[in-house]
Order: sequence, then structure tokens, then C-alpha cells
Amino acid sequence: MILLVNGPNLNLLGEREPNVYGATTLPEIEAMVREACAPYGVEVKALQSNYEGALVDFLQEHRHEAQGVIANLGALTHTSYALHDCFKSLSCPVVEVHISNVQAREEWRRKSVVAPATRGQIVGLGPSGYYFAAVWLCGQIPAAADGIESAGVSPGELLVEGEPLPPPKPGPGEYE
Ligand code: DQA
Repeated sequence: MILLVNGPNLNLLGEREPNVYGATTLPEIEAMVREACAPYGVEVKALQSNYEGALVDFLQEHRHEAQGVIANLGALTHTSYALHDCFKSLSCPVVEVHISNVQAREEWRRKSVVAPATRGQIVGLGPSGYYFAAVWLCGQIPAAADGIESAGVSPGELLVEGEPLPPPKPGPGEYE
């Protein structure tokens, strides 16, 4: 099972700052991840919450079944030592995803306090980042990776094009 966790304000994808985050909604992203994992026979459990503790509870509750975690913690990325410690307590890999290129935005977004507890990050590729994280994680699950080979499906065939994101438009001095 793969856990897909999204933090504060990501429930508003599609209407929230579309110039930064695009028009794709969270239900569309969750469906894309499920579709990417299905040929591997891997189930996806998803949670979006605006509450740090709810995200920790969800990860703890499913820690024994989890074979991978895809996490976009929103602004908690930059502040949550609790989620850092929670990731550390998991035995499966965690992939951190950001829709926008956090390195090209405000200074405070450049630091992820959870990153040291993850296997890696996918940043700035729009909603496709979730897809790539899902395919990579499924490939790490030996039984799932064998399954897809015998089914003759190529993961590339499943690629759902993410919305191309326009480059961020900084205000005067905003991103520097
Ligand atoms: C985000 C980037 C964060 O800095 C921000 O707080 C978000 C979304 C992203 O996906 O680009 O809520 O995680």
C-alpha cells in the first residue's frame, strides 16, 4: 500500500493561486496516483488535512502496511519537526513532492525541515511530480515491479500530462 498525504490548503488546488499551482484539483491528482499504481497491484490510501496532528495520526495508523509514502505537506514542509520525526519512524521510503518550484520562490520556502527524513524530493514539475513519485515507489516494491513486467504494461504508457505551470511571476524583490 502507498500512502498519499497532502497538507494544509492543498484541498483548494484548482482554485488556489492557479498561476502558481495550476488548475488540476486534488481529486484529479489522487485519481492519477491510483491509476499509476493500479497496474502494479498497489493500493493507495489518501489523506488531505489542514492539521499537522491528523497527518501524523494517519501515517502512524498505517505505518505497518505502508510500502511507500508520497507527501506534499504544503507549508508544514517548512516548519514541522513533528512530521520530520514521523517520517523517520517509518520503515518505507518517503518521497516529498512540491507542485511549484519552491527553490524559485520566497526564501522561507527554500528550506524543507522534513527533507532529511525523506528518500528524495520532486519539485516544480506540477502535478506530474505525484505520478513520478508513485511509479518510482511501486518500482521499489519487488512483488509489484515483477507484476507489471508480467502484465506487459510500460509505466510510461500511463503518464498523465500534468498542467504545464507558467514560471512564477515574482513581484519586485519578492523572490530574492
Ligand atoms: C507547496 C509549496 C509550499 O511552500 C506551499 O506552502 C504549499 C504548496 C507546493 O506543492 O508547491 O502549500 O508544497
